[in-house]
Amino acid sequence: MCGIIGYVGGRPCRELILTGLERLEYRGYDSAGFALIDEGHGVVESVRAVGNLAELRAAAGEGNGNGATAGVGHTRWATHGRVTTANAHPHASADGSVLIVMNGIIENYLELRSELQNAGVVFASDTDTEVVPQLIARAYDGDLAAAVRAVLPRLGGHFAFVAAHVSEPGRLVAARRECPLVIGVGEGERFVASAIPAFLSETRDVVLIEDDEVVALDADGHAIWQGEERQPARPPSRVDWDEDAAEKGGYESFMLKEIHEQPAALWDTIGDRLRGDGSVELDGLGLDDAALARVERIHVVACGTSYHAGLVGRYLIEDWARVPVHVEVASEYRYRTCLAGPGDLVLGITQSGETADTLAAMRVARERGAHVVAVTNIMGSQATRDADGVLYTRAGLEIGVAATKTHTAQVMALSLLALKLGRLKWALTAAGALDLADELRRIPDAVEAYLRSPAPERVMQAAAAYAERPFFLYLGRHVGVPVCFEGALKLKEISYIPTEAYPAGEMKHGPIALLEEGSPVVVVATDGHVFDKVVSNIQEVRARGARVIAVATEGNEEIERHADDVLWAPRTPALLSPIAAVVPLQLFAYGIAQSRGLNVDQPRNLAKTVTVE
Ligand code: F6R
Repeated sequence: MCGIIGYVGGRPCRELILTGLERLEYRGYDSAGFALIDEGHGVVESVRAVGNLAELRAAAGEGNGNGATAGVGHTRWATHGRVTTANAHPHASADGSVLIVMNGIIENYLELRSELQNAGVVFASDTDTEVVPQLIARAYDGDLAAAVRAVLPRLGGHFAFVAAHVSEPGRLVAARRECPLVIGVGEGERFVASAIPAFLSETRDVVLIEDDEVVALDADGHAIWQGEERQPARPPSRVDWDEDAAEKGGYESFMLKEIHEQPAALWDTIGDRLRGDGSVELDGLGLDDAALARVERIHVVACGTSYHAGLVGRYLIEDWARVPVHVEVASEYRYRTCLAGPGDLVLGITQSGETADTLAAMRVARERGAHVVAVTNIMGSQATRDADGVLYTRAGLEIGVAATKTHTAQVMALSLLALKLGRLKWALTAAGALDLADELRRIPDAVEAYLRSPAPERVMQAAAAYAERPFFLYLGRHVGVPVCFEGALKLKEISYIPTEAYPAGEMKHGPIALLEEGSPVVVVATDGHVFDKVVSNIQEVRARGARVIAVATEGNEEIERHADDVLWAPRTPALLSPIAAVVPLQLFAYGIAQSRGLNVDQPRNLAKTVTVE
């Protein structure tokens, strides 16, 4: 959580910092701030505001920051200390000499804070961050990089920060531990940020900073240390990301744009991995085919929407490859007795590659000797560094806080893995694998055709009719279960309406008590071997006065007799229906949030990347 940016170079940087922060806003938007430092004048502008970047711009007003060519900025997702201007970053040392913007948590801050207070230091905020500038100011002896190196070992937790000192106006010093930090290398300038989009419009040459490294940046270069040891020069790598990904491209929100980008995300995730003969090439798993064929057990660890993708993956892998799969939320897995070990494959699914719990669960499994593969969308993310192998989704940058295209791309990536395993395990025949490969290839086109059809507009209309309902129950069976979990999560995240999502067979064991006349029940009723069972459940809820909104496969005429509203999903084989069926539910949630006038891209209290446990 939180986005940080710093710039040092030859250009006035006020607008570079503010634009960079806008690109990082998906990481947190409780409050924001920036400070500009100028040669000979010290801090020439420092503004903090509660709210999103628009509020910061309003508080800052017009201005040129005195033409300052160095500065830092921050967008916050509060962990320690309420959302107030005083708790917004940058934070300064009591003497005003050191400024800090930070992402992450200093776990031993209470101890450090009382030590500093006992030494007479007065604190201005309730944050954990503030101990950092105070410590650096006390350690400073004319060399900011040396002071940061001296302080770093004292800090517990996981964090990335950028520091500036008024006596060294042309220099920034940054450090990281388990939180992302990248350097952007330009002509006579350097950027430092939590994520590449912050400076993508200015430079595509990036240098990744490793755990516990300190980097000092000035206009002409940067130097990296690990402890007191200066690291050899690290050549930048060039990113070829599409810059438009950080723009809405004519859509009213990032989420809507990203829903429409799903066909491309699915095509790209398949890419050249699916061969004409139905075989699957997955580079980078860190396991050759012989080793993969020996895998007897798979554990999947993930959070939120990525966990739902893992649940879908279980059906596919168990059906196609006959390998048992255990799927668990990472925040629980990490604290349970871990029984994974050598010979087991552990998949850590995380679009951001930064989720603290998922990283921790992957580490636990790796320490036990399991082979850990990160399924992630972000190249060079922490998950890719912590894992033995990587299976990339290729969804492109996702900015909307509610995950959409990264989720369907995760399901596609897991489908490819399941197909590969199915062949390696001889659970699928060559002909069977070929059929499945053809079906997988058809999915992006089917989703594309759906999104271009009048169906999405009808979903929006249906959504508007339900927008004021106070509660929704979601039901499904078999692969419809993770779909209804995901649909319900989307709705609660962006519309703030309470939802329950249950396997339909469990309904009579409790949730049915929630129903009253007119209660909306969303039922995933796509074609498959449990369709008739789902129809029975529909009848049971209708008998109690509920209104049924069914997600059904295009062309299924029977469902219209049972449901009050039907949200059509593109036709696919039953096991692949989760990709097709989740799209109308994304749109349904979107339509409700839109009718309620809510900001779908920045739902309250949420952040795109959850780097704290
Ligand atoms: C929901 C959503 C979250 C994330 C979860 C894990 O729309 O986006 O539930 O899925 O925070 O994030 P990653 O996949 O980055 O580990």
